Amino acid sequence: MKVIKQEAPLKSFLAKIRNKKPRPRVGFVPTMGALHAGHVSLIKNACKECDVVLVSIFVNPLQFGPMDDLTQYPRTLKKDIEQCARWGVQAVFVPKNTFIAKHKLPKIKLPSHSKALCGSFRPGHFQGVAQIIWLLFKLIRPDTAYFGQKDYQQYLLVKDLAKRYFNSKISIRLCPIARSKDGLALSSRNQYLTSKERELALMLSRCLKKGRQWIQQDPDHVQMVLKKMRFILDQNNGIKTDYLTCVDSNNLKNMFHYSSSRMSSLLLAGAVRIGKTRLIDNILIPKP
Ligand code: PAJ
Repeated sequence: MKVIKQEAPLKSFLAKIRNKKPRPRVGFVPTMGALHAGHVSLIKNACKECDVVLVSIFVNPLQFGPMDDLTQYPRTLKKDIEQCARWGVQAVFVPKNTFIAKHKLPKIKLPSHSKALCGSFRPGHFQGVAQIIWLLFKLIRPDTAYFGQKDYQQYLLVKDLAKRYFNSKISIRLCPIARSKDGLALSSRNQYLTSKERELALMLSRCLKKGRQWIQQDPDHVQMVLKKMRFILDQNNGIKTDYLTCVDSNNLKNMFHYSSSRMSSLLLAGAVRIGKTRLIDNILIPKP
């Protein structure tokens, strides 16, 4: 496996691949490192479906707000590289911090749903995500890029970006949320949680699961269900809820009914803060 730190060797690596006949399918998994089983599930899918897999590891400063944890963000590069090699990745791209400064990044046109959910709590975050993904896509031009459902809103935004800026030539693949046995969605940020905070964090996935059950039982009262869910979360001192919402999974607009006449699934999504850690989670509820 190659570890590539500069753009020139990245370009020649890609050129060599693209010269091969038949042209290999290139899969790309963008990450910020501190790889866990969630990232690995994306990598495994990519390795199954593509001939060559490239993983990027870059803690992107553009997507961190002033109150966010950029300097604290976990960095475990050596282990990450070992993991990638173990699962059959062909190359890991680990650009230097100066990487973005070398490029003139355009302001990316974001879809209106990027203002929903996390968008209203993290101003600038999705613009930062979109700019780094635009740059990585421009350099790598993968056939397929892999994203996790945990960051569902990010996935939607990247899908829009691929269509708008890359003529839909890059297909965007959504992979399910990897969870620990007790249901907690895996996240690089979970390691900041004390054992007491981790117990509290579990409330989010439990509450979403319960919510799904209630919505399926009482499809006309989605907002009532949300109120009940919010009540459960609010009973726990130590959980601050940014949002708990049920939206159309295509456009993130609020949903009030769970009916078979709708064209898309529902997304039941939440974001909470526990101590200094912000956690997100969601469940997709297919059409009845
Ligand atoms: P990062 O948080 O490292 O996540 C990289 C990818 O792993 C994302 O697509 C994310 O949704 C996915 N992922 C994280 N936890 C997961 C889980 N429990 N199950 C399944 N997939 C999971 O997301 C980012 O980095 C950045 O915003 C990035 C796209 C790299 C741009 O900087």
